[in-house]
Amino acid sequence: KEYNVAILGATGAVGMRMVDQLANSTVPVKSLKLLASAHSAGKQMEFKGEKITVEETTNDSFDNVDLVLASAGGAASKKFLPEAVKRGAVCVDNTSAFRMDPEVPLVVPEVNPEQLKNHKGIIANPNCSTIQMVVALAPVFKKYGLKQVIVSTYQAASGAGQSALNEFYQQAKDYLDGKQMSADILPTAGDKKHYPLAFNLLPQIDVFEDEGYTHEEWKMIHETKKIMLNDMNATDLKVTATCVRVPVPISHGESVYFEVEDKNASADDIKKTISDAAGVTLQDDPDHQVYPQPLNAEGKRETFAGRIRPDQENKGCFNMWVVADNLLKGAAWNTVENAERLVDEDLVRVPKDHYQG
Ligand code: A2P
Repeated sequence: KEYNVAILGATGAVGMRMVDQLANSTVPVKSLKLLASAHSAGKQMEFKGEKITVEETTNDSFDNVDLVLASAGGAASKKFLPEAVKRGAVCVDNTSAFRMDPEVPLVVPEVNPEQLKNHKGIIANPNCSTIQMVVALAPVFKKYGLKQVIVSTYQAASGAGQSALNEFYQQAKDYLDGKQMSADILPTAGDKKHYPLAFNLLPQIDVFEDEGYTHEEWKMIHETKKIMLNDMNATDLKVTATCVRVPVPISHGESVYFEVEDKNASADDIKKTISDAAGVTLQDDPDHQVYPQPLNAEGKRETFAGRIRPDQENKGCFNMWVVADNLLKGAAWNTVENAERLVDEDLVRVPKDHYQG
């Protein structure tokens, strides 16, 4: 069986990588449509050595499409994905549009793959920072239980899209050339003020919500809880987050402090559990200065964990450093990996009681 696939947002930072990850996946592709805004229509992109012309997205773009991989922003997903589902396409969405919808499974294949079978036409990818954190924490949770997570993120510019990444490079160049840096996108497009990221740190990702948290922090808290409490039957889990944009082009870092239920778990137990788990590689050898770094994680599909050490004063509590390519595991690869599972489990079909919105 082969599938007609469409990539919505194919020209973006994530979309371009979806094309590449799909070409290197087990998904049997009969045809591929590359969809973007009118601005990119006519542009050519390559898939498995074949040139494909990018088309402007309309509702009719999804006629005869079996599988949609989407990363064109929340508004485009809200507008087009219900239309695609109506036309019989199963959609894996990388935006935040449907993540918290109880009818939409929120899936990281290494963590809660059994949720895929409950889909009604749309499957959501969690936020990039949530994905890499749960990949590292899920095996620990399964073995030792989890009571609390306190995370601080160090998030790359590319998480805000290709134009934000371009803006960051221009700022770095202008700074080194002794010119004034300009900022029109970061910290977040659409907000009132903009600040340079180059040679700076921006403790704002997405817009501010209630009680002084940003939407990115809100996403990390609530998406982690949706996965751990609903899908993995955690009985109680406290999560809090601080999200910071750092002047790194690709790959997010996270300082994760967590408390397990089993107070007898040692740092060696946590390391062994993580090194045995799928999708996460342990890089933890302080004697040889081995630990995860964004430059080394770029272009890799897996999540890297290291610096695992016990809190010296609170038993059962640990510190850990987690890094992953935010555009791959945090986005394009997680999407394509979900698509591979859907194909393997013969789930690329829309049920009769499909998602209505
Ligand atoms: P385009 O390049 O034509 O603007 P990024 O996350 O890197 O900013 O990329 C966003 C992607 O989503 C791009 O491919 C962009 O296309 C696409 N996109 C943005 N808005 C829409 C829309 N309303 N309809 C279809 N594609 C869109």
